[in-house]
This record gives sequence, structure tokens and C-alpha cells, in this order.
Amino acid sequence: MLTKFQNLISEIENTGFSEVCCSEKNAKSIKSLQALTSNIFKLRPNILKKMLSAEMYAGYRKMGIEYSQNPNDPDLMESISLPCNILKNKPIGEISEFEIAFRDVGNKMFEIAEQLVSVISEKYSDDHTTTFCCPESSFFQISYYKPYLHSRETLQELHQDGNLLTFVMGNGPGLEIRDDAGGFHPINFESDSMFVMPGEILSLLTGNQVKTLFHKVKNHQKLKERIAIMCFINPSTEKTIKPWVNNTYNQHIDIRERIQFHSTKFGLKPIA
Ligand SMILES: [Fe+2]
Repeated sequence: MLTKFQNLISEIENTGFSEVCCSEKNAKSIKSLQALTSNIFKLRPNILKKMLSAEMYAGYRKMGIEYSQNPNDPDLMESISLPCNILKNKPIGEISEFEIAFRDVGNKMFEIAEQLVSVISEKYSDDHTTTFCCPESSFFQISYYKPYLHSRETLQELHQDGNLLTFVMGNGPGLEIRDDAGGFHPINFESDSMFVMPGEILSLLTGNQVKTLFHKVKNHQKLKERIAIMCFINPSTEKTIKPWVNNTYNQHIDIRERIQFHSTKFGLKPIA
């Protein structure tokens, strides 16, 4: 198992990304969550908002500026975000079928993330007191797109994720990653695997030895819907976070502050 995760880390270092396989059972849970997501986004935003309480940086968000730099070109998606610890703490009788499915898939993603992060932090860091894959500062997100409604070339503009690692599963084409020469490559999702992308925080921790992966979502107008299920992993923000590798790339940057306030760019509350 350790070798599997060591290989994934080498892939991320060498190619800028990696892919991790889920079991057949997990692939079924993912399919079922996608079907429930499709139904839930047919509800009106005000009903959705009531269903999903906006605690901390959780809740439903309608289309808006997320990574887009131009208010006239918002990201063309709706989304639901939940901190990774929230569904664990909710009494079982109080959660909907959608939340149960979200929790089951999310917890599996988080379990895999924990193993991968423990291998990468072991390799680069001698800090054994910080939780680098922390449920309180990491969150799940489901993004929902209706490509056929839009004529724009991209549904989400080019950006880097502002976290340590992102795990993503999609039900169709759209995600494209940028290479060092500026070329773009489409990612084809398999039903039983997750795509793993390094974010800004991993590049800061490693002094850019592991580079952040820039990506965008291209519009495939023939698609009726596009669903992306993601897990954004972050370290604990309880105390100051020291870089794993010190150099000019991360000099004078407060990594903890960067994590805490990244979510405010999207109109969400800071991570505590
Ligand atoms: Fe992203």
C-alpha cells in the first residue's frame, strides 16, 4: 500500500498530477451520488439553501465569480460545499439520502487523501505535530454545470486551486490541464478513478518543488449536465505552518493565513 502511494507521489512530482483507483463498490456509490446530485440541482436555489445550512464555508452557492477575474464572465456552475468533518458529526436520523451518499463518497475520498498526504509529508517534512490532512480545514464540493445553456468557450476560467491537494471525479469531459509550455490537455475521467491535482499550498510548502497544476473547465455544449465531485485537502490551521522546504519561493509568505482566507475570495467565511 505504501509503495502505491509513493508511486503516486512520484507521478505528481514528475508529471504534475496523478490518478488513484477506487474499488468497484466505490464506483457504484459515485454513480448513485451523481444521480442524486442531478435531482437535487433541479430544486430551486432558495429550497436548496434551506436544505443545506450555510455553516462556516458550507452550503449552496449559485453561479458567480469564483476563479474568474472578470465579473462579466462568472464561473458557470452552481455548487455545494461542506467541511469534511460536518457530516460525520450530524446525527444519522437528520440527514437526507443525498447527504448520506455525499458523506459516503466524501469519506472514502478523505481516507485516500489521508494516506497520500501522510506519505508526501513524511517525505518532505520533519514536522510531526501538524495534521496536514485536516477534516476541519478541508472540504467537499459538488459542482453542477449545464453546458448546453452557455455559448462561452469555458465554464470555469484558468486557475490554480488554493489548497494542498484536490481529488476530483467527473461524469464527463471538460477538465483541461495546462502543461509547462502553455498547452492544454483534456482529462478523461474513468468511472472508478479520481484525478489528483497539487494546489497552491503544496507548491508553497515544498518551495515549488511540487508545482501547482493550472486547469480550466472547457464547455462541451452538447452536454446536458456536468457533475464534478471534489475533495479539497488542507492542513490544520490551528498553528503557524512552516514550509517543508525553505527558499525564495515561499519566503515571507504566511501559509496558514493563505489557507484561512482563500475561501473569502468566493464570498465564503474564512477557515477557522
Ligand atoms: Fe479548480
